[in-house]
Amino acid sequence: MAFTYRGGVLCAEEVSLEDVARQFGTPCYVYSRAAIERAYREYADELAGRPSLVCYSVKANSNLAVLSVMAQLGAGFDIVSGGELARVIAAGGDLAKVVFSGIGKSEIEIRDALQAGVLSINLESEQELARVNGIAIGMGKRAPVAFRVNPDVDAKTHPYISTGLKQSKFGIAYADAERLYREAARLPGIRLTGIGCHIGSLMNDSAPFVAATQRIVALLVRLEQAGIALAHIDLGGGMGIRYKDEAQAPIAAFVHGALDALGQRKEKVLLDPGRSIVGNAGILLTRVEYVKPGEAKNFVVVDAAMNDLLRPALYDAWHEIRQVRETESDGLAGVYDVVGPICESADFLARERKLAPRPGGLLAIMSAGAYGMAMSSNYNTRPRPAEVLVSGGEMHLARRRETTQELLALETIPQW
Ligand code: LLP
Repeated sequence: MAFTYRGGVLCAEEVSLEDVARQFGTPCYVYSRAAIERAYREYADELAGRPSLVCYSVKANSNLAVLSVMAQLGAGFDIVSGGELARVIAAGGDLAKVVFSGIGKSEIEIRDALQAGVLSINLESEQELARVNGIAIGMGKRAPVAFRVNPDVDAKTHPYISTGLKQSKFGIAYADAERLYREAARLPGIRLTGIGCHIGSLMNDSAPFVAATQRIVALLVRLEQAGIALAHIDLGGGMGIRYKDEAQAPIAAFVHGALDALGQRKEKVLLDPGRSIVGNAGILLTRVEYVKPGEAKNFVVVDAAMNDLLRPALYDAWHEIRQVRETESDGLAGVYDVVGPICESADFLARERKLAPRPGGLLAIMSAGAYGMAMSSNYNTRPRPAEVLVSGGEMHLARRRETTQELLALETIPQW
């Protein structure tokens, strides 16, 4: 386990979170390198013996130190913007293992991706096909592309992160896929390399994932009959993690389910997991500012807020809260909402938790490694937290805390 109590103090691997707070302040994201590596290896081991590539989904946690861990493991990357491409380049990632997803790629992003030599551009519309074809011809290249097909399968997850239904904005319609592949096959700037899908995030059950794979395989067979052979099949990410006590299917269930659905097919299998690699490898460390007992509710006011970790406010997401000191000697035991300093009632990190907090004490918001820092903002002109990567007994400041001066630096006052 990446985060355990040692002598009554919560640690990241062998590093006390009290030491992290002392050295780098709070709020602060803390990641365990060993936990990241372990999760990646689980995928790699399950896929061993068959042509495959795990493309870590950069959007989940795009810190360069995290990306460099992935690059060193030999992972590929799933990116959705020119900014993420720049990050993969800066972290030393292998560009021939990059898939570029997303429904709104700009001309410049497409050009940069082709220049960089990515493995595949995952197309999401007919117009995008035309755009990529045009840009590639202009560059004297053939763009390697896959279509992201919407299999119309319900991922049975939060509606905000469900992407595989007909009414979703993502991908091309299943019914249009064959026609678009035939059309693409005739274009001089296009080289068809694969097919992709991604039905949603935070899937607890592997059945929808397997059902989507079956739908894509059926399409592959039809395309093959039409004379279109593809080199890879990208099944997306979306494997959930346990935040609380959910019945969570293990990674093996997703991978084996997909491999069974693929049977004897020879295409290389791509997966692009994000959360299941970094989610439980990170926490948000925060300090208690005030303990505020109330008539109807008790509050712990901490120095982290919805700008640092948006998931509770946005999805009503549940994150476990642990006291860094397992027992606070002068803590005030009770049931508390853990809230931040932001001027919104949605600014909560947890509700109705049994705690014994004391002002100045430290709390760890668990399972915050994915979509934590990545979705942070500067709302209320709050500098974003520092990020620390721990390995064994060592800590590395992976991103220093922003300063207020830096937040103001891009703005100017007109002189008229
Ligand atoms: N591939 C594609 C095409 C995606 O759109 C996503 C996530 C992934 C892979 C990675 O999914 P994962 O394995 O991390 O579930 N902010 C939300 C999650 C949004 C996911 C967006 N797409 C949250 O905090 O729960």
